[in-house]
Amino acid sequence: MLYPDIERVLLTRQQIQERVAVLGEEISADYRGKELLAIGVLKGSVVFLADLLRVLTVPVELDFIAVSSYGSSSTSSGVVRFLKDLDKSVTGREVLLVEDIVDTGLTLKCIAEHLLSQGPAGFKVCALLDKPSRRKVPVKIDYLGFSVPDRFLVGYGLDYAGRYRNLPDICVLQREVYEGGK
Ligand code: IMP
Repeated sequence: MLYPDIERVLLTRQQIQERVAVLGEEISADYRGKELLAIGVLKGSVVFLADLLRVLTVPVELDFIAVSSYGSSSTSSGVVRFLKDLDKSVTGREVLLVEDIVDTGLTLKCIAEHLLSQGPAGFKVCALLDKPSRRKVPVKIDYLGFSVPDRFLVGYGLDYAGRYRNLPDICVLQREVYEGGK
């Protein structure tokens, strides 16, 4: 196999780049004449965000928020803890929250409530990946890259226990890695 611990490549770097380009066009068209505040959710969204930023044609400011939801396991605890808040307030800003993957929806719901309580002028969500079969709370994703099956994915920013973020493709992790066999 190409990478150790990987069962297969789910989305190649080329498929990802093509989709990111389309998302960039859609977002740029929707925000024409406005100035965006893109907020990345650390750390999983950084690779996606870095690529998305470079295909946007509207003025963009950047900020980050960090939460912990998974620790180093592969199942959601349902508890979202804020590790880093924004540098500046989002009041009156056109906010685009950029997420790597929406799973149960608990993390997104919690961050959305936090940001909406500050009264942004607009609030939209862009997620690279969605696992709809795992949803526990309803959330709205305005711009979605790909809908994916219920498997643990790594690469292109996504990690398992802090590893694999650097893989350029989005890959299915071997079950033994996260089910304790390895
Ligand atoms: P949720 O709160 O259950 O929606 O979880 C969202 C967060 O869990 C994401 O931002 C990721 O950090 C993490 N996550 C969920 N599924 C995966 C996956 O397949 N690979 C890597 N991280 C994941």
